[in-house]
Amino acid sequence: MSLYLVLDGVDGCGKSSQASLLTAWAIDRGHEVVHLREPGSTPLGEALRRLLLDRDGAAMSPLTEALLFTAARAEMVRELVAPALAKGKVVIAERCFLSTLVYQGIAPADESARVPLPLLRELGRRAHGITMPDRIVVLDLDVDVARARRAHQNPDRIEARERGYHQRVREGFLGLAREEAHCTVVDASGSHEDVQRRLRAVVEPLLPRPR
Ligand code: TYD
Repeated sequence: MSLYLVLDGVDGCGKSSQASLLTAWAIDRGHEVVHLREPGSTPLGEALRRLLLDRDGAAMSPLTEALLFTAARAEMVRELVAPALAKGKVVIAERCFLSTLVYQGIAPADESARVPLPLLRELGRRAHGITMPDRIVVLDLDVDVARARRAHQNPDRIEARERGYHQRVREGFLGLAREEAHCTVVDASGSHEDVQRRLRAVVEPLLPRPR
């Protein structure tokens, strides 16, 4: 028994901190846990991350972004996720194909540049193969609260986009969470402790028996 758990949501929703807290908690409970992030976690994925998020980097269309995010995902799933699951480990990953559907398929302001969702779904299926997330938790947060939480850090290329983009990201996540299998929305407002308590209530019943 293994678990492939994903935390996803708007920039600034706190998924990195929450994933770290969940990882420590699951290790405490006797699980072997692998904490991963998209794009990244493999050497190729981290190189793609720099290309995708560098504010001084080349401009790209949503289609190009979708292909690069998907390439990073395919490597991470093949190199890290599938082998960990085969050993019965718990994988806690930040982001998944849902981010691509939302950021490249729904949120771009120029409607003609939005990548059609059926194509993005197919890319997602290709990148994951049979290794699909068992549960995707969308951390939902008001975009102004999220922006305030990120205020102390330099925004990357995507975080620097206008408020309307991030609002469409939020609405996109909420809409897709209703349609996609294995999605749960968790309120990401309040303190780290509040959010972690809500998350553990969702995750606890999913954890395999510790080895
Ligand atoms: P993130 O991990 O949230 O960065 P941070 O280090 O700030 O926590 O994600 C990187 C950015 O990439 C984020 O703005 C969302 C975006 N993204 C997409 O646009 N499409 C995707 O498929 C993925 C995985 C991320």
